Amino acid sequence: MRHVCVVGLNWGDEGKGKIVDVLAKDVAAVVRYQGGANAGHTVYIGDVKHVLHHLPMGVLHGGILAILGNGMVIEPKKLLEEVESLPEEAIQQIRISDSAHVVLPHHGAIEKVTEEKATSPIGTTLRGIGPAYQDKFARTGVRMGDLIRPGFVEEQLPILLEERRQSLGGTEEGVATAVEICTRLRDRLQGQIVDTRQLLNAMHNEGQTLLFEGAQGCMLDIDFGTYPFVTSSSPSFLGVGTGSGFSPRKVDHVVGVTKAYCTRVGEGPFPSEIHGTEAEELREAGGEFGTTTGRPRRVGWLDIPALRFAAELNDLDSYALTKADVLNGRETVPVVTAYRRGDEILHTYPGGTDDLEGIEPVVENWPGWDVVNEQSMQPFMDLLEKETGIPVSILSTGKRRDEVCLFKPFTAEGELA
Ligand code: IMP
Repeated sequence: MRHVCVVGLNWGDEGKGKIVDVLAKDVAAVVRYQGGANAGHTVYIGDVKHVLHHLPMGVLHGGILAILGNGMVIEPKKLLEEVESLPEEAIQQIRISDSAHVVLPHHGAIEKVTEEKATSPIGTTLRGIGPAYQDKFARTGVRMGDLIRPGFVEEQLPILLEERRQSLGGTEEGVATAVEICTRLRDRLQGQIVDTRQLLNAMHNEGQTLLFEGAQGCMLDIDFGTYPFVTSSSPSFLGVGTGSGFSPRKVDHVVGVTKAYCTRVGEGPFPSEIHGTEAEELREAGGEFGTTTGRPRRVGWLDIPALRFAAELNDLDSYALTKADVLNGRETVPVVTAYRRGDEILHTYPGGTDDLEGIEPVVENWPGWDVVNEQSMQPFMDLLEKETGIPVSILSTGKRRDEVCLFKPFTAEGELA
């Protein structure tokens, strides 16, 4: 296996962490290329719970670099908490792009007010993600590389934060705390804030193997998701290039993670959504409550037109199918295979939010299963491949981290073996 990218095909929370964890054992580095503390993975090592928001899963495997790419926005307080919860060997493996942006107190303050005042709020994670990217693209942001410039944190940062507080919001206390935290973060990770673009390309030239991890899911992509109900970055495979400085042409295999059903957190279109008791049962069975915000997730059936769209958008090679065990014991499993708009039947996902107005899901019943294993899931996986043209290479068979099978491993050329 050479370079692989793992992306979410739905609206996030597909179980990417577990898939990355499995694949990370064979790589030299795991790389995140977008998003920030809006993402969240919970991992247990023995009985110790670790909540990761920025760091990719690989950080917990000995000897693997955990790289936070330039496309990310980093919340110093959360990153420091994550770092401080890790063993020293893992901390030493972290590298952060000097071009990644820093989430500052006014970002959270702006977002809170915007969401509260909006007639149609997005339902964000309130982690300041959108406003941090606004500063990035307005060319007024602070980057991780600034934090390690001599005197910046002591002299320029307090002035900059105070100006932003007065014009944009936040508290004096928030400014003082941010300066203190940025100082601690700098002192802790000083030598690990580097040019990660150069590092990734050097690793490639040395023949090392890289694993890219998209956070959220491609239906939340800033350009191709259900705008404006999206996140402010590019979780799709297309984000790898600008978010890491590593050419996507060098990535050999793109694995898209999808649950056997769908969820969405926050507002926005969700064509296969279900409601009532059926939805409550599915939510409970799947434990569908947000890792970052604790919000109950909206639930729905697997959406084939949306998967066809996601497969094309991400130039997908194979699926990792997760959480099929949540549907154990059903004779048949409902799947949305098309949409109906008036008399018209749509087999492809129409694209924009407005185009999704007034569509009705066409639901078919696919064969169910009692337990999840390669044999019991074969009819479902065959149908999935027939309907979307993409085979399943990884099957998660249960909740535990080791309940997963990589039954079609990839070759060094990115082909399925
Ligand atoms: P933001 O990324 O906090 O700006 O939120 C924008 C939208 O993306 C909201 O609907 C969030 O619920 C959703 N979102 C952001 N991060 C995640 C995630 O990691 N999982 C699922 N949904 C997310």
